[in-house]
Amino acid sequence: MNSLPLPLLAVLIGSALCQYYDYDSYYQPSMMLGPSGPNCAQECDCPIHFSTAMYCDGRRLISIPNVPTGIKYLYLQNNKIKEIKAAAFINATDLRWLVLDHNHITSGGVEKGAFEKLKSLEKLYFSYNNLTEPVGPLAKSLTELKMMGNKMTKFPSSTLSGLENLTSVFLQENELTTEGIAGAFKGLRSLIYVDVSQNKLTKLPSGLPSTIEMLYADHNDIGSIPKEYLLKLPVLQYLRISYNKLADSGIPAGAFNVSSLIELDLSFNKLKNIPEVHENLENLYLQANQISKFDVGSFCKIIGPVNFSKLRHLRLDGNNLTRANVPYEAAGCLPLATEFSVDATD
Ligand SMILES: *[C@@H]1O[C@H](CO)[C@@H](O)[C@H](O)[C@H]1NC(C)=O
Ligand SMILES: *[C@@H]1O[C@H](CO)[C@@H](O)[C@H](O)[C@H]1NC(C)=O
Ligand SMILES: *[C@@H]1O[C@H](CO)[C@@H](O)[C@H](O)[C@H]1NC(C)=O
Ligand SMILES: *[C@@H]1O[C@H](CO)[C@@H](O)[C@H](O)[C@H]1NC(C)=O
Ligand SMILES: *[C@@H]1O[C@H](CO)[C@@H](O)[C@H](O)[C@H]1NC(C)=O
Ligand SMILES: *[C@@H]1O[C@H](CO)[C@@H](O)[C@H](O)[C@H]1NC(C)=O
Repeated sequence: MNSLPLPLLAVLIGSALCQYYDYDSYYQPSMMLGPSGPNCAQECDCPIHFSTAMYCDGRRLISIPNVPTGIKYLYLQNNKIKEIKAAAFINATDLRWLVLDHNHITSGGVEKGAFEKLKSLEKLYFSYNNLTEPVGPLAKSLTELKMMGNKMTKFPSSTLSGLENLTSVFLQENELTTEGIAGAFKGLRSLIYVDVSQNKLTKLPSGLPSTIEMLYADHNDIGSIPKEYLLKLPVLQYLRISYNKLADSGIPAGAFNVSSLIELDLSFNKLKNIPEVHENLENLYLQANQISKFDVGSFCKIIGPVNFSKLRHLRLDGNNLTRANVPYEAAGCLPLATEFSVDATD
């Protein structure tokens, strides 16, 4: 299957996420940094016109510098920090953003209570460290948590409990198991975005709140989807389960027949048939499965005389299908399609 030539099409798989920018995109050191203010830690820079920010990134630091009161944005990425002492943030009561990506921090290296004073923290970026379990307890004010690229096998249900303003959680590239994340997202009433791609899940996360709009679980070992799973997620728009172990038998009839979905990515699985989807779906990615039957009825729903499904992108390349398998009705059924791909010849 992997030897099939996939056409190099400009697929917009990543485009849904423009709103989730990274801090790097508006941090331009040469333009922003002025002389350090009087309270700035010696090892760091605090821009003169943006004195609530302290830039300490990429300075070979092995410990957290003193963070004065008044600093709201703290950048500590790309250092060699291994541990966080209990008193490290004792004066950092105003901190809103804490960026610790690309350090060597282990779970055992974070002393108890280290985050206790961070009562206003909104964004915690802790990606690409050596965490084997999440740090905490976290501030109730948290809105965004990134802990990707660590070595976490579990993410206990207590970690995020009561974080009423948490909207996004990024946990990709860890070693999380289905049991290890059981209940982790329960009761989070502002949560809209969860990414658990590149982990060791055999099932989609359970107990997600009904506010979820984007759920990404690519590159796991998921073999089936519970029948009513999507019915409990009434505003889910983007669902990605590519590079998993889904076969037809793991997808109950009507599992994807929900009106909220805009994008469904089931590419690189083991499907033999096109699953039935709702007419509202716009992007359906099924490339690199084992589909050998083009069933128009799966996605072609007649809404009105000139109004069929809303599908714009349908990828079927890398299956056992060629143009010759595509029935005549298919063209009429995809009036909005800007991308439709099967393998050209066999
Ligand atoms: C906290 O502030 C006090 C008083 O300014 C100072 O003596 C101490 O070193 C600071 N500690 C840290 C960890 O920033
Ligand atoms: C963190 O992980 C890296 C890569 O796996 C390893 O080389 C390093 O020794 C680890 N550091 C600590 C402090 O455990
Ligand atoms: C959550 O956000 C609201 C609105 O911004 C704010 O009033 C409230 O204090 C926040 N909750 C916490 C626990 O920070
Ligand atoms: C799909 O959902 C619609 C309502 O949204 C319903 O009318 C239809 O029967 C469903 N199809 C299947 C196969 O469940
Ligand atoms: C197609 O259906 C949608 C609702 O599903 C409606 O908003 C739109 O006006 C319809 N277009 C035509 C040309 O009938
Ligand atoms: C691929 O499709 C051809 C004809 O469409 C069929 O004869 C063959 O059995 C299919 N192969 C697989 C592995 O499904």
